[in-house]
Amino acid sequence: MYNELESILNKAFKKIGYEVEPKVVKSKEEFVDFQCDNLFSLAKTYHKAPLVIGEEVISEIKKMSDFSFYFKSVELAKPGFINICVSDRFINESLRKLITKDSLGCTKEQSTIVIDYGGPNVAKPLHVGHLRTAIIGQAIYNILKFKGNKVIGDVHLGDIGLQMGQVIYGIINDFPNTKYEDIEFDLEYLNKTYPKVSALCKEDDDVKEKCHKITKELQDGNEEYVYLWKKIMKISLDDIKRLYEYLSVDFDYWYGESDAYKYFDEMIPYIESKGLVRIDDGAKIIDVKEDSDKVDVPPLILQKSDGAYLYSTSDLATIWQRKKDFDPDDIIYVTDDRQSLHFEQVFRVARKAHIYEKGLEHHGYGTVNGKDNKPFKTRSGGTLKLDDLISEVREEFINLREENKKMDKEDLDKIVNSIIKFADLQNDMSRNYIFDIKKFSEVNGKTGPYILYTYLRISKLLSSNNGLLSDNIYNDIDRDLRLKLIDVPVVIDQSARERKPHYIANYVYELSVLANNFYVENRMTDIDDDIKNDYDIVLSFNNKVLKSLLSLLGIYIPKSM
Ligand code: ARG
Repeated sequence: MYNELESILNKAFKKIGYEVEPKVVKSKEEFVDFQCDNLFSLAKTYHKAPLVIGEEVISEIKKMSDFSFYFKSVELAKPGFINICVSDRFINESLRKLITKDSLGCTKEQSTIVIDYGGPNVAKPLHVGHLRTAIIGQAIYNILKFKGNKVIGDVHLGDIGLQMGQVIYGIINDFPNTKYEDIEFDLEYLNKTYPKVSALCKEDDDVKEKCHKITKELQDGNEEYVYLWKKIMKISLDDIKRLYEYLSVDFDYWYGESDAYKYFDEMIPYIESKGLVRIDDGAKIIDVKEDSDKVDVPPLILQKSDGAYLYSTSDLATIWQRKKDFDPDDIIYVTDDRQSLHFEQVFRVARKAHIYEKGLEHHGYGTVNGKDNKPFKTRSGGTLKLDDLISEVREEFINLREENKKMDKEDLDKIVNSIIKFADLQNDMSRNYIFDIKKFSEVNGKTGPYILYTYLRISKLLSSNNGLLSDNIYNDIDRDLRLKLIDVPVVIDQSARERKPHYIANYVYELSVLANNFYVENRMTDIDDDIKNDYDIVLSFNNKVLKSLLSLLGIYIPKSM
């Protein structure tokens, strides 16, 4: 529909001699469907009043022989808009076409895109902070894949940083007289050890020093540490995978920072050969400042004076590896917004050293806050473990109604997922949001359960239809719903282009509101067969759209609720 409207306008503008690529957008005015606001920029270029240009264009459009096929009305509005109201026939024609299209009519792409999301630090339990990268990253992955791209998801585990040195330090101290091959520990032990040693490091410089030393020796391949490390990895990763599975989050590659280490020997001399490295106090650093910088961008540290490698070094080597293995058109990172400086430094070095010069994008997200609008904490003030958050949400939902207590486990898991994910994905990811468990568990309001409920409610109405949509529209709410459905490809394309799932999430909500209104206003019993047939087609498509878009958001439909 947008394409057709734009091309009609384009023809009209051209005919009178205006060069412009008209853009049509949804109108917020009542009784207006679309609007075009190119008149202002044209007015500047051609030194004419916007209303005068508008007048000319509209009279040109009205001369079209098929005007009445497309339009109910095309009118000029002050200070310079063309307001468009489309005909019912055009709406139905567009809907008929859309229903037969693959991939809900979105434009297809064929890029190779790596998405780096998840990024848990092994040996630490997943907490609420890990939620956003997993949920948002997986949604972006699904959306880009839906568009036809070859998408490669990599979890990029934090598997060899200081937390590993700290846990190994804890183990060695807790089992002083046991040979390292004989040391036994489990997940519960790990979950206690990391916070314990990490707190100790803050008080005791000597311990901190030792943990750094162990980390460095682990990176260098110390046999005992590597043995313990593998054991820690196995236990912790099993638990991490269990949680991701619960959230339907999955990765094509489970690489970690440590996998990038094998490229250092090639990459570091290569960067040095480009003359980019300078020695500062024994450390190898690379300047990345640019004249246009408005804030200070400090140099990237490639290697510390004690020989240790840093987060930036492994991120550079990971780009090296991705280029070699996948030759992608884009690499997308989904992390906490506070890492944006880090990525700016890494991206600059990757480009300066010609390691990789195609798309490098960092998409930062804000924090998940509690009702006090501060980062979500447990009642005692600690960071909330993801497991505990999931249990809290489940409890909340179960306690809403007596029937929920008897719910099938699989269905319940799907609903819990919808609560957590829809709370997150409806917000522009760059902002913080308040996770109010009670509010987001309700079946009313802008929540996951509301949308699932809408879907199930509508699907009960559906019966088979003969597949031919007539040219009729029966009332305003019916018209609104059909017009909204026609928007679906535009919304998917925008979400993909901007890498922002919230456009889809908000659309899904607005569509659900319309579908519910439709349900309430249009009684499906006691109606003419012809009308029923049309309604069936519209509502079946409505549910197809809901289901497909929800699955892009990682939300799946329960059997009942
Ligand atoms: N492990 C990191 C953290 O917890 C996130 C990793 C993000 N990805 C990356 N390539 N640096 O902060």
